[in-house]
Amino acid sequence: MIKKEEAESILKKYGQEHLLNHFETLNESKKKELLSQIENIDFELINSLYKNADKEEANKQDEISHMEYSDKYKLNEKYKEYEDIGKKSIKAGQLAVVTMAGGQGTRLGFDGPKGAYDIGLDSHKSLFELLCDNLKEGQKKYGVLVPWFIMTSEENNDQTIEFFEKHKFFGYQKDKNIFFFKQGQLPMVDTEGKILINEDGLIKLAANGHGGIYEALVKNGMVKKMREMGIEWIYIGGVDNCLAKMVDPLFVGMAIDKKVTVACKSVVKANPHEKVGVFCKRNGRPSVIEYSEISNEMAEATDENGELLYGESNLLCNLFDINAVERMGSLPLPYHIAYKKATYIDKDGELIVPDSPNAYKFESFLFDTFGTLDEMLVLRVKREEEFAPVKNADSAGVDCPSTARKMYEDFQKSKK
Ligand code: UTP
Repeated sequence: MIKKEEAESILKKYGQEHLLNHFETLNESKKKELLSQIENIDFELINSLYKNADKEEANKQDEISHMEYSDKYKLNEKYKEYEDIGKKSIKAGQLAVVTMAGGQGTRLGFDGPKGAYDIGLDSHKSLFELLCDNLKEGQKKYGVLVPWFIMTSEENNDQTIEFFEKHKFFGYQKDKNIFFFKQGQLPMVDTEGKILINEDGLIKLAANGHGGIYEALVKNGMVKKMREMGIEWIYIGGVDNCLAKMVDPLFVGMAIDKKVTVACKSVVKANPHEKVGVFCKRNGRPSVIEYSEISNEMAEATDENGELLYGESNLLCNLFDINAVERMGSLPLPYHIAYKKATYIDKDGELIVPDSPNAYKFESFLFDTFGTLDEMLVLRVKREEEFAPVKNADSAGVDCPSTARKMYEDFQKSKK
């Protein structure tokens, strides 16, 4: 562990001396924690991310083109063939499911891990329980307990585990097949590039985005554990899609048959100007393009069948070959900047609780690794069967608890 003097010289080099302003007021354990934070933070990285904060826009030189996809409902006789291949793999215990639950859920505004949110069904099941139901369905159909790996963040890890314990792991924890692991964090900075101090007098850290999944899976020994279990395919998805079909033989079978290492599900955009990221090719490689990067002309462009050229929305439902995850775990990913609200202690020791965004957070995105792939499968599924996200509070009227609840209930009825 470094000494205070060493910390001072590191901070001086990077213009972050204020971090030790309240050092003497901290107790011994907090002092140690702060010194350890200073020792481990990559200040060079943080300063350069801040410097580039307003240059974040996509590279306008990128050549964007249409990405081919397969439609689940146009596979004809191949459907069963793929499904059989996938069933064989799932029954052999080769599939693991990962749920990314480290996000802050700012838009939903729920005080707790988003997965613990009750969308108002008669059963009052939480998002976690609804996802677990999908695993249990897999267990019933294929006779295997698909292991479930849950990524949390420092901020919500303890609450998440408590929630699972309180609900007795929804009856799914048989032979220890639910695993929690934490994602990485990065400091938040103010508009001057100064790293913030939190209520404890320590450096204010925030989860490093869903792109942190690869590194977190590798660093925390999850990939190793999966290998010991004989896992070959890893489904990785968000916590907030209550219709996610995670144990899906068609998806697994197609990836195997088409010899791709990554497959993603899409649904067709609700309208050309829906605010979602869509699959595309960027300089000839698989990618996702944000709605903000697309011109109106591109958003409305159609092919000879009248289908949108950039109409396949990214659901964050992905399937990876385990080797791909391991490789991606050591790739340096770009960081994107988000302007967020952050409570902090100012230089006079005052607690500042903002009511509008005041600080930068740095996040990497899961799909930023796609550019390293030659090929990737995009499987178009039906929105009403597989995509009911909970992003916003009900007041927004879209992608919110009431819309998700309705879709979930309608889908359950349609299955009867
Ligand atoms: P979103 O980008 O929708 O973020 O995450 P969010 O945290 O749920 O909500 P907002 O933007 O703050 O309102 C998509 C998925 O990725 C996970 C989320 O938990 C969600 O399942 N995620 C996001 C992480 O696991 N870690 C992160 O750092 C960010």
